[in-house]
Amino acid sequence: MKEKIKELLKELFADGASLYASSGRINLIGEHTDYNGGFVFPGAIDKCIKAKIKENGTDKVRVYSIDIDDYAEFGLNEEDAPEQQWARYIFGVCRETIKRGGTVKGFDAIFAGDIPLGAGLSSSAAMESCFAFALNDMFNDNKIEKYELARIGQSTEHNYCGVNCGIMDQFASVHGKKDCLMRLDCRSGEFEYFPFKADGYKLVLVDSVVKHELVDSPYNKRRESCERVAKTLGIETLRDAEMDDLNRVKEQISEEDYMRAEYVIGEKERVLAVCAALEKGDFETVGQKMYETHAGMSKLYEVSCEELDYLNDIAKECGVTGSRIMGGGFGGCTINLVKEELYDKFIATAKEKFAAKYGHEPKVYDVVISDGARRIS
Ligand code: GLA
Repeated sequence: MKEKIKELLKELFADGASLYASSGRINLIGEHTDYNGGFVFPGAIDKCIKAKIKENGTDKVRVYSIDIDDYAEFGLNEEDAPEQQWARYIFGVCRETIKRGGTVKGFDAIFAGDIPLGAGLSSSAAMESCFAFALNDMFNDNKIEKYELARIGQSTEHNYCGVNCGIMDQFASVHGKKDCLMRLDCRSGEFEYFPFKADGYKLVLVDSVVKHELVDSPYNKRRESCERVAKTLGIETLRDAEMDDLNRVKEQISEEDYMRAEYVIGEKERVLAVCAALEKGDFETVGQKMYETHAGMSKLYEVSCEELDYLNDIAKECGVTGSRIMGGGFGGCTINLVKEELYDKFIATAKEKFAAKYGHEPKVYDVVISDGARRIS
C-alpha cells in the first residue's frame, strides 16, 4: 500500500495536477436556524482544506489524506461507501454530483488541511465543498450553480454520514468572500454579502478542545424536536412561528420541545437585530445578542457543555463585548467580539482560568474572514 501511495504522489506532483481549496467557517449569529428555514450570518475563514487532483483515466477514485496518513479507493459505479469517515465525504460528493446529472470521471487526489477537527469550524463541509467545486471545475465546465454545490455537500452529510444538517456550513464554505460575512435566508436561498468592519474590535475563537462528533450527537434529535413543533403548529418550519403561536400549543407538546422551539424563535429575532445593529455600527447590541444566544443554546437548546459555559463566563467577567458557543454545539469553541484594548487581558485570563480548572489551555484563533471554494492553480 505504501508503495502504491508513493507512486500516486509521484505521479501527482510530477505533472499538472490542479490545486483546489475550500474553507472552514465562523458564524456570527443564527445557530440551529438553518434547518428551521431561518437566517444565518456566517463567513469563510483563512483555515482551509487543500487538494491536488488529477484525472486518472479509470473509473476509480484514489485518495490519500496526508493529515490522517490514510488511503482510500472506490469505484465510481459502486454503491457502497468506503469505511473511512473522511473518504465517505468524497464518495458522497461524487455520488451526489452524479445523481444531479453531473459528470464525474476517475481521479487521484491528495489533500491536507489546517482546520482544527472537532472545533466547530466545519472541516467536513470544507472538504465536501473543495471536492464539489473541483469536480464541477474539472468535469462539468462549472455548469453546476454554486448554491447547488453547497447542496451536494449537505446531501452528502444526510445520505452518507448520518447528519441531518442544514445548509449553513457548506454554503459558507462555497460562497465565502474575503472580509465579508453573509446573511443567508435559508428558506429562499437568497443571500447578501456584508463587509465586516469592526474598527476597534477583534473577533477571536477560543477553542475548548472538547471534541464533539455530530454523527453520534443529539444534533438530529434537536432537529426532530423543531419539526414536531412545526407540525403541531401546521407550518412548514419554525421560521413562521412566533412566541404567541408556540404558547397556543404549549399543552400539546413536550416541555423539552417547547424549550427547543423557544430558543429557535428567539434566535430568528436575534439575527435580524444583529444585522440592524451592524448597519449602525452598534457593536454593544451585537455583543449583547451573542450573550443571549449563548444563554439560549445552553439553557433551552441544551447544546453547550460545562467547558464552553465556563469560557462564556470568563468572557463576561472580563467585560468582553459579546461571546457565545459557535456551531452545532456539544464542544468546540466560543466566538468572541472583543475590544482591541481588552484582547490581551481576555486571552491571558481565559488561558489561565481554563487551564486551572480543566488541566489544559484552550486554543486561540484570530478570525480572518477569507474566500471560500476556489481553484488555486
Ligand atoms: C452544524 C450544522 C449546520 C448548523 C449548525 C448550527 O454546524 O452542520 O447546518 O445547523 O450546526 O447552527
